Amino acid sequence: MTEISKQERPASGGIGGPAPRPLAGRSALVTGGGRGIGSAICERLGAMGALVAVVYRFDQRSAQATVDRIHAAGGQAFALAADMGALASIDDMLARLDRELMARTGEARIDILVNNAGVAPNGTVEQTSEQMFDEVINVNLKGPFFLTQKAIPRLRDGGRVINISSTAAIRGRPYLAIYGSSKAALNMLTLSLSNHLGPRGITVNAIAPGAVETDINAAYVAANPNVYADFAKGLALGRVGQPKDLASIVGFIASDDASWITGQVIYVDGGSSFK
Ligand SMILES: NC(=O)c1ccc[n+]([C@@H]2O[C@H](COP(=O)([O-])OP(=O)(O)OC[C@H]3O[C@@H](n4cnc5c(N)ncnc54)[C@H](OP(=O)(O)O)[C@@H]3O)[C@@H](O)[C@H]2O)c1
Repeated sequence: MTEISKQERPASGGIGGPAPRPLAGRSALVTGGGRGIGSAICERLGAMGALVAVVYRFDQRSAQATVDRIHAAGGQAFALAADMGALASIDDMLARLDRELMARTGEARIDILVNNAGVAPNGTVEQTSEQMFDEVINVNLKGPFFLTQKAIPRLRDGGRVINISSTAAIRGRPYLAIYGSSKAALNMLTLSLSNHLGPRGITVNAIAPGAVETDINAAYVAANPNVYADFAKGLALGRVGQPKDLASIVGFIASDDASWITGQVIYVDGGSSFK
């Protein structure tokens, strides 16, 4: 009987064998990848075997820590800075992405794009300034729109676009007037892109979290320290989300197992949509 070498073993391994790496040989780009939900997504995709580009805006230290955790778990990753609200910055980041991918894989191609970066200032219609309106629309909608447009020639057939939306898109909260509107538009962009890219086997889906414990809610929590406990009382599952609750569903949508799911908004919210 011939002994199977380590390199020839199936990726799934056996009991006590290596973790499955179903995304081995694929490349992913995750915006807002240094912190919160995006960091958990990067770690998940890295653990599944993808080479991960961790895109951050200001927090280089957190982005590098995400890269370091992926490396420590046996994965591959690198960090890139970009302002998702500015097209020139997106172009500059993509030029650096191309160079990194060429050096690491020999091709400037990606398989998985996760539009996760977002900002969520609280404000009713009366409290929303033009500056706040522009920032939310630029980061949450214009950035994903044009990054996806520019990523299309780089995306391999059979690839994935995954937009991180929000339950705020369908819940009409008065204090999230422009934020909820930006995510509702992102949902429609998801549907439109799914029809546009479907002929190439590229799926386009949105994951819509409910309340998740991250820095994005810091100002809200500072004003109301019981906010997560209060939210949890209204949820079927009785707890708010953690970043890994979102990362696992992104990992599934990125996998071959989800190749017939497209144009969907998938609510991952502990049940809050149904109250
Ligand atoms: N947490 C929740 O309750 C919740 C609920 C529903 C939906 N979401 C959505 O989930 C996504 C991730 O949010 P999160 O909760 O993980 O928030 P977070 O912890 O505040 O992280 C936000 C990320 O977005 C990045 N970012 C912000 N502005 C940017 C810009 N102009 N250009 C590039 N990157 C920018 C930040 O980069 P730096 O690290 O460099 O600052 C950071 O990595 C967002 O789209 C958010 O709307 C969150």
